[in-house]
Amino acid sequence: MSETVLVTGGAGFIGTHLTAALLRRGYRVRVLDSLIEQVHGTGRPRFDPEIEFIEGDVRDGAAIARALRGVHAVVHLAAEVGVGQSMYAVERYVSVNDCGTAALFQGLIERPVRRVVVASSMSIYGEGLYRAADGTIVQDAVRKVRRLGEPWDPVDAGGQALVPVPTPEWKAPTLASVYALTKYVQERLTLTLSPVYGMEGVALRLWNAYGPGQALSNPYTGVLAIFASRIHNGQPPMIFEDGEQRRDFVHVEDVAEAFVLALEHPAAAGNVYNVGSGQDRSVREVAQILARAMGRPGLEPEVAGKARTGDIRHCIADIDKIRRELGYRPRRDFAEGVAELAAWVADQEAVDRVTEACGELEARGLVA
Ligand code: UD1
Repeated sequence: MSETVLVTGGAGFIGTHLTAALLRRGYRVRVLDSLIEQVHGTGRPRFDPEIEFIEGDVRDGAAIARALRGVHAVVHLAAEVGVGQSMYAVERYVSVNDCGTAALFQGLIERPVRRVVVASSMSIYGEGLYRAADGTIVQDAVRKVRRLGEPWDPVDAGGQALVPVPTPEWKAPTLASVYALTKYVQERLTLTLSPVYGMEGVALRLWNAYGPGQALSNPYTGVLAIFASRIHNGQPPMIFEDGEQRRDFVHVEDVAEAFVLALEHPAAAGNVYNVGSGQDRSVREVAQILARAMGRPGLEPEVAGKARTGDIRHCIADIDKIRRELGYRPRRDFAEGVAELAAWVADQEAVDRVTEACGELEARGLVA
């Protein structure tokens, strides 16, 4: 008999790809999603007829009880996801992400499942791992408030810029935003409570997922979707800081694959894993590659020279643990993935709300 998997937030970007991957592997799939307007607009997403969809909020105990009936495993994706927005919509972020996870576990105590996999985030690391000029590894780099003309990179005691190196799971968390804090709580709730009730908890710390299906009109979404929406509307991408900040952009199909491994692999129980592509890039480079792929190579990005409060400078992924223990192999080439994203965007309608969203941050002094 095939297992039934509940995917909370399964109507979202990652959820859509994950549920398709689960169906392909023969699982029965149920989705609990509240279809928030910031992500889904006012339209209703079209689900594969094989997916059982329950519209409901993850904080609603009755909806959870219904959603958990007959379920063998849960992937918990339902969350608010914007770092910048989390710094002012504090109550909403804490409520959806943390009270939501608490409500899910309240339900799971009554109806335990085999395994619960939660989507955590690289944001929990704060600044990634760095190397100082003398070769020592720095775990606790922090960004100072920057004065004009000072470097954007974190520096050592002597004022030398630190160099980012891949961040492994053992790096201690530094919670630099409300979003990061809520993700860490989600992760800890899962890993603390699951074994107490005979369940296996797994947390995946995702880097920057991208690909077709990103919420283009949501100005609080990931940078690639925001840039794509800007370029699609003939506007230059708007780059915070100087554009040299580095991330690991991982294709959503590779992320879906990581979730399948986290659900199935016996070694995953009780563990946390980084999920990235294993390659890092600067935000400026990403803006250029995307503009080229979208046929607008001349569209030069605007460089704000200001940072969003709560943003980290660099964090790049060490994916050795998930490779070794679960056999994860990210397959998607970045240039091909961006070309695919560009082709998808060309057929979409994307409302550019970025200026409005930046205004929200600026009005609160959260861009400086
Ligand atoms: C993102 C996700 C977060 C996820 C994390 C995992 C969003 C909103 N955030 O956080 O949910 O857990 O990855 O890695 O999807 N930037 C610009 N211009 C813009 C927007 C962003 O220059 O218009 C810059 C930011 O300042 C930052 C970088 O791009 O330096 C990445 O930003 P963003 O896509 O928001 O991602 P993270 O903060 O890394």
